[in-house]
Amino acid sequence: MNIAILTSGGDSSGMNPAIKKFVEYSYLKNHTPYFIYDGLEGLIEGKIKKASFKDVSGIIFRGGTIIRSSRSKRWYEKTYRKQAYENLKKHGIDALVILGGDGSFRALDVFYKDFKVPFMGIPATIDNDIPLNDYTIGTDTALNVIRHAIDEIRDTASSFARAFVIEVMGRECGYLALTSAVANGAEMCLIPEVEYSLENLKKRYLNEIKNGRGYFIAIVAEGLKITDKIKEWFEKEIGFEARSTILGHIQRGGSPTVFERLTAAEFIVKAIDHIESSPDKIVTHKNGEFILKDLNEIITSKYALNPEMLKIAAPLMGKE
Ligand code: F6P
Repeated sequence: MNIAILTSGGDSSGMNPAIKKFVEYSYLKNHTPYFIYDGLEGLIEGKIKKASFKDVSGIIFRGGTIIRSSRSKRWYEKTYRKQAYENLKKHGIDALVILGGDGSFRALDVFYKDFKVPFMGIPATIDNDIPLNDYTIGTDTALNVIRHAIDEIRDTASSFARAFVIEVMGRECGYLALTSAVANGAEMCLIPEVEYSLENLKKRYLNEIKNGRGYFIAIVAEGLKITDKIKEWFEKEIGFEARSTILGHIQRGGSPTVFERLTAAEFIVKAIDHIESSPDKIVTHKNGEFILKDLNEIITSKYALNPEMLKIAAPLMGKE
């Protein structure tokens, strides 16, 4: 088969190891791998090229995506999707592999409904917000970038009596905030999915200060849009000088972790192994296994945060 890969939406570290494995494993299985550059925009523009081993040499340790990405608004106009389909036909592409998040899977859904091009979708976004799936490529590296940033902020935080409010990415999903708050021993974790109580937190913090707490690390999910408000709250209600840091796009970069590289390889192998026999699926990672799911099931379900992790983090949200 001629199989083309594209990366779509926010890039995530781990896409490059996935692209490398895609090329090498496709050749191993007697398929011919193709690249579509610049995501869906590139597909509309016909930026399609046969991939070689040389293209993917020396990329396994690099963040980002060597075939680049885009967010395409015009994809939702049928004339452009038709143009994309014509481009695939012109290059003799039999099937698509798409690495992306929920926006990319929705884009895939409208395309499939029109043209029935066989596909495999692989969850790749730092947000880890794909339903019925435990892991999206890029999450572990992003969590490690956040860990390093917090370690460094802690150096200065512990040298002053201050509160540091750190905003992490994730769009409407609190996964990165929740996980990094627990993993980095934060005093506060505020996420869109759970109601929080500043009143309860205040009571606890004032007691803890009496008992020797000298500084605060607060993790706030970007989806709440309250980072500045929390900084002011620390100054007014807790009486601590406060600083805020928006970690921003550094969370999308960095060399893929070992876990990332291994998981990316496993996602790709599962996709290529089944692209002929059971196409039109999203490869999910659930309870340690790689499972094929219908696209429709994924885009009509809602992701859920791990209840055990939520329980552990409850005190950081002011829940008793
Ligand atoms: O979806 C990945 C993500 O990094 C989100 O966490 C963030 O809200 C968004 O993309 C930022 O998008 P952009 O790179 O277009 O600014």
